[in-house]
Amino acid sequence: MATTTSENPLNDPAVDPFEVARDAAAVIADRSGIEHHDIALTLGSGWAKAADLLGETVSEVPATEVPGFSASAVVGHTGTLRSVRMPDGRHALVIGARTHYYEGHGVRRVVHNVRTAAATGASIMVLTNGAGGIKEHWKPGTPVLISDHINLTADSPLEGATFVDLTDLYAARLRAVAKEIDPTLDEGVYTQFRGPQYETWAEVRMARTIGGDIVGMSTALEAIAARQAGMEVLGFSLITNLAAGIQKEPLSHAEVLQAGKDAEPVIADLLARVVAAL
Ligand code: HPA
Repeated sequence: MATTTSENPLNDPAVDPFEVARDAAAVIADRSGIEHHDIALTLGSGWAKAADLLGETVSEVPATEVPGFSASAVVGHTGTLRSVRMPDGRHALVIGARTHYYEGHGVRRVVHNVRTAAATGASIMVLTNGAGGIKEHWKPGTPVLISDHINLTADSPLEGATFVDLTDLYAARLRAVAKEIDPTLDEGVYTQFRGPQYETWAEVRMARTIGGDIVGMSTALEAIAARQAGMEVLGFSLITNLAAGIQKEPLSHAEVLQAGKDAEPVIADLLARVVAAL
């Protein structure tokens, strides 16, 4: 086991984050009795109910009992790691504990969910989030496939001279499967801002000008870590609101949560059907 004097081992720069991920995977294997997971999902705002539809829950471990994880700072995240047996016999790891970049705990903790998923054996990483839409025709409650991202955090989970190719990061193969399940699914480029403040109008205009369609505060850094780990990535945004300046009213976190709640039954069903087909 990685040893450290600090509360979370990932806070210690001398600790190897991949070793902490292996430790976390060992705890999950021990508690679930499942040595190998096939697919992992990080469920963001609005997506949590999908976990109940994927199959039979084998075990659910509080994130605080898994090395490197901590209680979620955001309402709407369950704070657990759940192992699910899917009807076809595959196993899914459902991660309801996300550390956001804006919490200021560093990128190692942000991507620990993904590195743990890879360490459990998962070869597909499904990343979901609630986000702002830049395209006016996206009504709140619309699920959108992430086709690519723009990382505006000026940070990276890669350390040192680690040159990782990000071509087709959000796998065309997986997006095609999702579109077979729901041909009406639209796609967009996700733009990760640092947050936690919502964007200014000017920032949303900038995001649109440089090719962004969606604004949010997660996912891009996690997707990079997933590619580094050799996983295929599928990304979904639930449009909870139109981005600042696209919608004329001020944004509120309560509105974002409510849109997630309202859309939850529909998007949970969609996600479960897509994951079953991956
Ligand atoms: N911007 C950034 N993050 C978000 C938004 C938004 O408009 N809505 C939900 N998460």
